[in-house]
Amino acid sequence: MKIAVIQGPNLNMLGVREQHIYGGMTLEQIHEQLSNAAAQNGVEIEFFQSNFEGEIVDRVQECLGTVDGIMINPAAYSHTSIAIRDALAAVNMPVVEVHISNIYKREEFRQKSITAASTTGVITGFGGFGYHLGLIALIQMLNEIKA
Ligand code: DQA
Repeated sequence: MKIAVIQGPNLNMLGVREQHIYGGMTLEQIHEQLSNAAAQNGVEIEFFQSNFEGEIVDRVQECLGTVDGIMINPAAYSHTSIAIRDALAAVNMPVVEVHISNIYKREEFRQKSITAASTTGVITGFGGFGYHLGLIALIQMLNEIKA
């Protein structure tokens, strides 16, 4: 089983940016923990981060036929990107959207995710641990498809 983890803009700044909201872990540390959990479950992960919307669209499209599922934090593009939403709909595979912060507790403009409508489900507000929850959810969904 192979999954793509796709991280949107400014997530490369985790550990530095607004630590009271996003915590102190760097993206590398989150990915390391995720790699360990994935290895224990026999899952292979391809990691990707970009600050550019079109690169994220390209990366989502590349998932077709190369991975079984996607875990994505589109970050600020969650609230604006019809292009990423359409790309996720196009590849038509299990997708978990993760937000580190609880977007419903934040500014009004963050409370709507445009991309979420093209995902299987959303995990929001559990900090870096949300990626772990997302991995478990994806494994479960992919196993259900196989069964
Ligand atoms: C975020 C929430 C977004 O509103 C914000 O723009 C981010 C990160 C989160 O993980 O909590 O960059 O997606």
